[in-house]
Amino acid sequence: MPQPTSIDLSSEDFIRDPYPAYRQLQAAGAPQWLPHVDRTGTEGIWLFSHYRDVARILRDTQDISKDLSKLVPAGQVTAFDRMLLNLDPPEHTRLRAMIAPLFGVRRIANMEAEIADNVATLIARIEPGKTVDFMAEFAVALPLGVVARIIGVPSRDMPRLRVWTDHLISGFDSARSSDEARSRLVTSLGELTQYLLELIAADNAPEGSLIAHLSELRADLDEPDTEETLGLCILMVLAGHETTVNLLGSGLLCLLRFPDQAQRLRDDPAMMNTAVDEMLRFESPLQRGTYRITQGRYKVGGVVLEPGQQVSAVIGAANRDPDEFPDPDVFDVGRRPNRHLAFGKGVHKCLGERLARAEARIAFGQLLARFGEIEMVDEAPCWQDKTLFRGLRSLAVRFRE
Ligand code: HEM
Repeated sequence: MPQPTSIDLSSEDFIRDPYPAYRQLQAAGAPQWLPHVDRTGTEGIWLFSHYRDVARILRDTQDISKDLSKLVPAGQVTAFDRMLLNLDPPEHTRLRAMIAPLFGVRRIANMEAEIADNVATLIARIEPGKTVDFMAEFAVALPLGVVARIIGVPSRDMPRLRVWTDHLISGFDSARSSDEARSRLVTSLGELTQYLLELIAADNAPEGSLIAHLSELRADLDEPDTEETLGLCILMVLAGHETTVNLLGSGLLCLLRFPDQAQRLRDDPAMMNTAVDEMLRFESPLQRGTYRITQGRYKVGGVVLEPGQQVSAVIGAANRDPDEFPDPDVFDVGRRPNRHLAFGKGVHKCLGERLARAEARIAFGQLLARFGEIEMVDEAPCWQDKTLFRGLRSLAVRFRE
């Protein structure tokens, strides 16, 4: 068995600021071995932190598999294990094509007016001069409402979906999850599955929603089957809001910590696109790629891995790699080029990218236009106790006219 890494990816210091540990990972030269046991029984994960290796691993469908069901003991494979993100082509290609139209250019452009209305409503509730928790009052509410509409979930049920999502994300966190977190994962996955199955069976989701769209496809083409439909819905719940919540929270924190950059953006709102990309690079909402396994012997990053080994693409580290980004620890709203990997790469590249960008662009556009000053109340904001995702638990701020 390889030597476990001595770099601590689970400490309180790491939660506050993971970048020194990422620099250590990169300085180590070779990939590092993170021991952990998950429900598949796999014993550890190879961590890759250099931009070139991370980009290659994310893109590679030849030598790297995402088929999680290969590892889960027979009889225990669930719809989760067979969802889009855990499949290889050609099954992946077939399922992705079914839902891609929901995230197309025109579809998202049509949603922008509604997103702008939602943002305006949330902003109208903010009292200038009063301390508010930006996470609770804004960053969570916006993506949660948007994804509820997309899936076809009644908005009153979204708080429950949020709790289940939180348990799932914590349970999957290979660097930090405990036995308790893993057991909560199993319970929450069961409850989420039951909830979604009932929603799918009710067959009364609003027109245009994911559930209604998949039901129409099933009636016309006899696919996707119930398990595939369930898998797509589970994925959308998991992927569709927490990452955007983190982008909004960390994005505002960047603007507060680098007031000169916030001023540049105020002076030239046309920089919004590059600013959002820089937020995604600087504090990537998903810090490590999801489940991946070597198919055969695999040469990468100066080592040869055996077949069946788990590999993790550390996106948060790659996005601060000095070999790709000059002055990687400088937050620059005009950074170009900015080939960050926050949305992944290759066939599994984020399907919701366009939507997430639209939400951030509209949110920051309206916030900066409405408030002349945004003041950070708590100089040491509290990060969530997670290492797979990076996002704030709370962010106390005061908005002023
Ligand atoms: C800032 C926000 C977001 C970030 C940073 C993000 C990041 C990512 C990343 C890195 C992946 C690839 C993971 C891997 O290859 O291991 C991914 C996949 C995915 N994301 Fe996102 N995501 C965001 C928002 C969204 C939203 C809003 C949705 C949908 C409403 C969404 C839906 C998906 C789906 C369906 C996949 C799987 C694609 C596939 O396997 O083909 N994401 N996302």
